[in-house]
Amino acid sequence: TGEPGAAPKPPRFEQALRVPPVLSGSNITIDIRKASVKVMPHGPWTRMWTYGGTYPGPTIKRPTGAATRVTFVNDLPTSAGGLTVHQHGGHHSSADDGQPSRYLIRAGARRTYTYPLVDAGRPERASFRFYHDHRMGVTARNNWRGLQGMFLVTDPREDRLRLPHGAYDVPLLVADRSLTTRNQLTDPFPGPDMRDWMTGPHAPPNDATVGTKILVNGQFAPYLRVKPGRYRLRILNASLSSAYDFALSDGRPFVQVGTGSGLLPHPVVRQDILLGPAQRADVVVDFRGRRDQNVILDTVPRSDGVAGTGTRSAAVMQFRVRGHAHQRSHVPDRLRPAPRLPVPGKVAMTWTFDLTDHGDHGSFWSINGKKFDPQRVDHRVTLGSIERWRLRNASDVTHYIHLHEEQWLTVSRDGRRPPPWERGLEDTWRLDPGEYVDVAARFTDYPGVFMLHCHMLDHEDHGMMAQFEVVTPTR
Ligand code: C2O
Ligand code: CU
Repeated sequence: TGEPGAAPKPPRFEQALRVPPVLSGSNITIDIRKASVKVMPHGPWTRMWTYGGTYPGPTIKRPTGAATRVTFVNDLPTSAGGLTVHQHGGHHSSADDGQPSRYLIRAGARRTYTYPLVDAGRPERASFRFYHDHRMGVTARNNWRGLQGMFLVTDPREDRLRLPHGAYDVPLLVADRSLTTRNQLTDPFPGPDMRDWMTGPHAPPNDATVGTKILVNGQFAPYLRVKPGRYRLRILNASLSSAYDFALSDGRPFVQVGTGSGLLPHPVVRQDILLGPAQRADVVVDFRGRRDQNVILDTVPRSDGVAGTGTRSAAVMQFRVRGHAHQRSHVPDRLRPAPRLPVPGKVAMTWTFDLTDHGDHGSFWSINGKKFDPQRVDHRVTLGSIERWRLRNASDVTHYIHLHEEQWLTVSRDGRRPPPWERGLEDTWRLDPGEYVDVAARFTDYPGVFMLHCHMLDHEDHGMMAQFEVVTPTR
């Protein structure tokens, strides 16, 4: 709050940052249950829905190529309804994709998801993914209540690059929430779920759920003691609707080394990094020469001056630079080239995101003029083929569009070569009003139905989703 553009007074940073517990076995079981979480530095703990009793849930960390089975047990009360867990950024069968209305985990039941971490017979790229609830009509509510965790795929070949590692590699899940004076989550969602609003006479009341407090790893305004060395920060925006334009208070840049989908070809020096819902950035921050100083991670108004969904001014967390670093880290000029992909010149499918008029029923968020229908397949792709798709925003607000199942090359943004930080792989793109982005991927391994949708979760629940089906070639 405060004047637009004027940074409000930073909060006192009173709690040390927690890093979620790490699970790294090949067979993992996670209990979905209610638990109290210390979100605020003072007063009562916050009752949440959790993966394994913590928010964020445990970070799953697995080497690429190592098959991973994760069993989720639904120990929430029956009233929570069926759940489904999606590994965002993964490549796996349709049945393991945690889709909104298939293979639900009912109360008291469990489901095992299998993640091979292999693509077309080869280990996948190391990447920074996350897992979250994806239940039809209540994804926003279930994520708000806490069903989110991080998932890291590592690659020993990348360890040779000597990027900062161990205690110098810190994952940060950033997400806003609103709390009552008793530190409990507010409930901004209409009941029982958004599907009632999809067909009702009005647009849903909560078109963009934004919390008043920005949390990092589930804590308000934490601090992290760092050494005056280089740190690798993996930043995930897990908010329902907010975008953040991150910057450091002392004007030092981030060196972006990757997206959520793996390393970039070359490091990119950036003063600020804009991340919308579900977007991730893998950055190196150099605290050398800042001993005994405090550096704040801020979110600032969008620096590119583009209208559309803005970002606000707030201090997110503090780094206290103390002691001495004994570290041998390095940011090489060459990281990992983007995969070579013969990108077709022709666009096989255009997906247009818009607000569509519904006559007396108001308007609804749409893809190609349609609202989501789990029975409808909107596009078919042949297994093994490469397609170029166009994502086009015809509405007057920014959307963040996510494609399931494959990792995509960004071919062009508004007809031009994408900026250097979009030259790796991606699964979620910012689309400002009027923008279009061309993307391309090869469809490998799994025939079946997959999703695409806006990752602003109110829009997703409102039906801004579509499906494509990968089909086996007929001979
Ligand atoms: Cu992160 Cu279909 O979602
Ligand atoms: Cu949207």
